[in-house]
Amino acid sequence: MHVPEKILNNYDLEKIVDTSDEWIKIRTGMFERHIAADSEAASDIAYQAALKALDSAGIRAKELDMIIVASVTNDHAFPATACILQKLLGAREIPAFDISAGCSGWIYAANIAKQYIENGICSHILIIGVDLLSKIVNWSDRNTCVLFGDGAGATIISKAEPSDISCFIDSHISSDGSSYDLLIQPAGGSRQPASEKTVKDNLHTIYMEGNKIFKLAIRSMNDACHIVLKRNNMDIRSIDWLITHQANLRIIEALGKKLRIAEEKVIVNIEKYANTSAATIPIAMDEAIHLGKIRHGDLVLMATFGAGLTSGSLLIRY
Ligand code: ACO
Repeated sequence: MHVPEKILNNYDLEKIVDTSDEWIKIRTGMFERHIAADSEAASDIAYQAALKALDSAGIRAKELDMIIVASVTNDHAFPATACILQKLLGAREIPAFDISAGCSGWIYAANIAKQYIENGICSHILIIGVDLLSKIVNWSDRNTCVLFGDGAGATIISKAEPSDISCFIDSHISSDGSSYDLLIQPAGGSRQPASEKTVKDNLHTIYMEGNKIFKLAIRSMNDACHIVLKRNNMDIRSIDWLITHQANLRIIEALGKKLRIAEEKVIVNIEKYANTSAATIPIAMDEAIHLGKIRHGDLVLMATFGAGLTSGSLLIRY
């Protein structure tokens, strides 16, 4: 994982919009978040995370067979941030592309990577969830600007040896486009190209109907978890850790209750990073591993939800 240096806490936000530390903590569980510098773009943060992932996996960038970047705050509309990263890393000529699945992007990327490993085309795939939502929030809208932070989580998915304990067990991804407009950056694409008016009307920033998304988030993450558990004949009691998208502590707690998983098995770090979109799950996983919570052999279930509206789950043995 990698996060920008600058930290913005709830007290800092009190000086920017009409909000309070108490409201943010009670309603979301968030306290501080990292914010990128003006000069930092998604590829810069992703690059630092990628270097750490390569180092920890013990492989060189030249050994990568594919790079997938999941983001909604790419460096540019085109070319893909993955191609910029490919240059920064000095990777070979390999497929490098971005996917747009909102906060679910990292699980979508993992799901795609799994297919390319299974069919034998690739041996090592770098997947990165990176978002700098601070660049696209409306800093005068208290409904959204307090919720997000910037960061990246990088993972290498590699072909396993039969003797390996660690494995990618299963993953499920889905999307319900019927509610695509509940969470949207309205302008800047071909529907509403950038103009003086779109800038003036703040249409390049995040629009979100938080209340409606709240309920859908719990329901779809719960469904996604049950799908992979059932498909693998597993009971929630066999799961050692649950890592969910960190969008709101109340969503995480409600999901934990619905799944009937013990509270102490649910990984939460929302107080330190807020919602880093596609990066929340790999960041939470990295922290939990380094804190010695997740150990080799543990079964880890992950669940996500985001713009699209996309959702998904991922089951691994670490
Ligand atoms: N500070 C103080 N008051 C606030 C703030 C704030 N920052 N924001 C909203 N309020 C006020 C509202 O104006 C409202 O006031 P009113 O009752 O006088 O009208 C009151 O607080 C309650 O507002 P709600 O929107 O009902 O608050 P809620 O408890 O639903 O919390 C939140 C809002 C945090 C956005 C919640 O709905 C949520 O987390 N939704 C899900 C978000 C999510 O999962 N998004 C998907 C992933 S994100 C992605 O993909 C990029």
